[in-house]
Amino acid sequence: MIETLWRPIKAGDLELNHRLAMAPMTRSRSTPAGIPTEMNAEYYAQRASTALIISEGTQPSDDGQGYILTPGIYTDAQIAGWRKVTDAVHSAGGKIVIQLMHVGRIAHPANTPHGRQPVAPSAVQPKAKIFTMTGLQDIPSPRALTESEVASTVQDYRNAAAAAIKAGADAIVAGSAIFGSDDYAAAISRIASKYGAETRLWSATCGVGTPENTTSMRRGLVTLVGCP
Ligand SMILES: Cc1cc2nc3c(=O)[nH]c(=O)nc-3n(C[C@H](O)[C@H](O)[C@H](O)COP(=O)(O)O)c2cc1C
Repeated sequence: MIETLWRPIKAGDLELNHRLAMAPMTRSRSTPAGIPTEMNAEYYAQRASTALIISEGTQPSDDGQGYILTPGIYTDAQIAGWRKVTDAVHSAGGKIVIQLMHVGRIAHPANTPHGRQPVAPSAVQPKAKIFTMTGLQDIPSPRALTESEVASTVQDYRNAAAAAIKAGADAIVAGSAIFGSDDYAAAISRIASKYGAETRLWSATCGVGTPENTTSMRRGLVTLVGCP
């Protein structure tokens, strides 16, 4: 087992030196505009000896943000911020995947750039609290997305995936509280009837290669959003 850990492996298009990867962890260290900074670059570069870093959840849109000071990947400034991170990781010999994450209802207006009510497949309030700049607050009830808003959220994922590759990411991982949570079973059935059962598969990677290189890990959301 220990020996296997240190053997190289090919994961999709990625050649990894060994099999230790860093799990995604929200750090809440970006700017209020969702821009990764030098501090983020230093943090990830310090961890580049793992074969693969999976970044903290990164919102594909204003609506996709829910926690404080998380990074986005949908503006030019955010792409430039992520470029600092990917360059630092690559210089240190590592590889980094950007995790796209729309938080769905696990959000608070105080943590978003626009201060609007969170959106989710259905208007079901989570029984939980969330950290904001003024301390722990109840998570409010979200507004249910319309069918056309679901389609534009999918488009946000497409754009963000392309932006992540532009920012130098070795791949993207698409996670989503909107498409993946069992709490939304009824709403997911509604969405699934339109987009297919693959909406239930919450995690997928999309390499930089061609669609022909599709691996089983790339099903699910990537089937939905396509590769950049
Ligand atoms: C502070 C913190 C932040 C986290 N942020 C994310 C995140 O942004 N995206 C994600 O998919 N998982 C996130 N996680 C989940 C971790 O990746 C997960 O805890 C880790 O993979 C270990 O799995 P386990 O908790 O099931 O043992 C976070 C966990 C912690 C403790």
